Amino acid sequence: MKVAVVTGASKGIGRAVSLALAKEGYSLAIGARSLDLLEEVAEKTNAFYSFLDVSKEDSVNQFAQKVLKRFGRVDLLVANAGIGVGGRLDEVSDEDFERVLQVNTLGLWRSIKAFLPALKKSRGLVIAVTSDISTRLIPGSGAYVASKWAARAILRTFQIENPEVRFLELRPGAVDTHFYGKPGRRREEGFMKPEDVAEVVRAIVRLPNHVRVEELMFRSIYQDPEY
Ligand SMILES: NC(=O)c1ccc[n+]([C@@H]2O[C@H](COP(=O)([O-])OP(=O)(O)OC[C@H]3O[C@@H](n4cnc5c(N)ncnc54)[C@H](OP(=O)(O)O)[C@@H]3O)[C@@H](O)[C@H]2O)c1
Repeated sequence: MKVAVVTGASKGIGRAVSLALAKEGYSLAIGARSLDLLEEVAEKTNAFYSFLDVSKEDSVNQFAQKVLKRFGRVDLLVANAGIGVGGRLDEVSDEDFERVLQVNTLGLWRSIKAFLPALKKSRGLVIAVTSDISTRLIPGSGAYVASKWAARAILRTFQIENPEVRFLELRPGAVDTHFYGKPGRRREEGFMKPEDVAEVVRAIVRLPNHVRVEELMFRSIYQDPEY
């Protein structure tokens, strides 16, 4: 039995990745705050689901305990939960900056930390969803960008400290999800669909365990190739 955990699985990329991993034969544990949406994903994937707020240490630890009690092992962690915050750095509020760091940066760190002993045991894989902006600068999105640069630093440090686990920084460009409000944008506007990201994840998990893909940036052919 191969066990995958997906955070932020109620919507968007996490939902699509969960559906794809179920098709790949993984037993799934999924978490997010919207239990009604999670339940719907669980029905389609036969997943174990539970409330998860990655911005709270207790919530992450309780989630991990439940998952490990249920399955006893974890082979793959998709640390995907994330939020966006806009605004120039001289306008973004303290509260918003703190919120985006709590979810995208500390939430990612907490999620990996909670499952690390199990991942070490299984010599498993972490796929952390950052963004194509994790090495770029976007005026008007400084807090979000900083949260993803920091996530990248955390991941690389985890990799050096834990060579028995494989850490992949997954860096999609624009994806048509709730991240931008209501989904429904056309591919020609530069957006991929969550299913496109799920296909990339599917290709990664099919690779042999002795291959460590450390970073993967990919975008729609309609998005400008900015670096
Ligand atoms: N869309 C893009 O263009 C794009 C591009 C590159 C990278 N990304 C990254 O992809 C990831 C997924 O985003 P998405 O585009 O799929 O957006 P989305 O449709 O808004 O989905 C975000 C997911 O994260 C969950 N989430 C948010 N806060 C959470 C918290 N405190 N605890 C647990 N789960 C939480 C949400 O679930 P609940 O609200 O139910 O908790 C939801 O399932 C994010 O890390 C984002 O930064 C997105």
